Amino acid sequence: MPQLAYVDGRILPLREASVPVEDRGLQFADALYEVTAVMNGRLLDWDGHLARLRRGLAALAIDFPMSDAALGIAARNLVRRNGHRDALLYMQLSRGVARRDHVFPGAARASLVMTVRRFDFAQRVRQQRTGIAVITRPDDRWGRVEIKTTGLLPNVLAKQAAKAAGAFEAWLVTPDGVVREGGSTNAWIVAGGRLITHPLSPHILGGIARATLIRLAREAQIVVEERAFTLQEALAADEALLTSTTAPLLPVVTIDGRPVGSGTPGPMAARLAALVADEMERQTGWRG
Ligand code: PDD
Repeated sequence: MPQLAYVDGRILPLREASVPVEDRGLQFADALYEVTAVMNGRLLDWDGHLARLRRGLAALAIDFPMSDAALGIAARNLVRRNGHRDALLYMQLSRGVARRDHVFPGAARASLVMTVRRFDFAQRVRQQRTGIAVITRPDDRWGRVEIKTTGLLPNVLAKQAAKAAGAFEAWLVTPDGVVREGGSTNAWIVAGGRLITHPLSPHILGGIARATLIRLAREAQIVVEERAFTLQEALAADEALLTSTTAPLLPVVTIDGRPVGSGTPGPMAARLAALVADEMERQTGWRG
């Protein structure tokens, strides 16, 4: 079956799908995106992704007339037509196509593209047993990263540096040592039985997986502190972990080559991974 993409209301083979060269997403990264997990053919946490997209549209004053219901139908239809049980749905919504000019165009119509790519979530479950390595990089992004725009060049460079160092992720750190988040994941530590993650702010992307983990942990009577933590604290922590749509929960076992805790996945990560797995099964029927 050929890969299919959605472009402004049309479904067509991915290799034929394109956007005009004057799309503002291309020229200015004047665009938002969402990555949603498709597990067992079902969308995970769809309402959360939709709500974040709506917040982004409001923040950027992009007028997008499609209703939530219509968007849900279009997304699910593309997922179904692609036929993958386990996949990632990518949605990108730009301010539209207009002659290049920084100020908002008067008459552009917002443009929506979507793709669905197969994804192996079971591979992530295997990585939960070994844990992963992170490196650190300066956080040199702009000051509004709570808006999920396609302007990801600092993230791209940080993640490439991680790959070059044989690590899974790069944690982005401020000059005074605060760990904000990873290049495409949220960052956590475990200390004294408490789960600690950076508070929502313009300096992190409020992850959907982050929100889910906070809810699940609190329901399980685990204390969650939404507060800034430093690299020093992370290196002295009992455990560390990261979350995202593409890595629902992974134990971090080294930071810049130095072990966290025992240097192996810890008991809190295992407990949280089980909670996350139960939640995925509840929503989608998926079991790794
Ligand atoms: N990235 N922080 C950043 C900078 C991210 O790009 C992401 C997601 C997250 C986690 O958000 P969520 O839990 O909603 O996936 C945190 C996506 C997966 C990506 O760019 O591919």
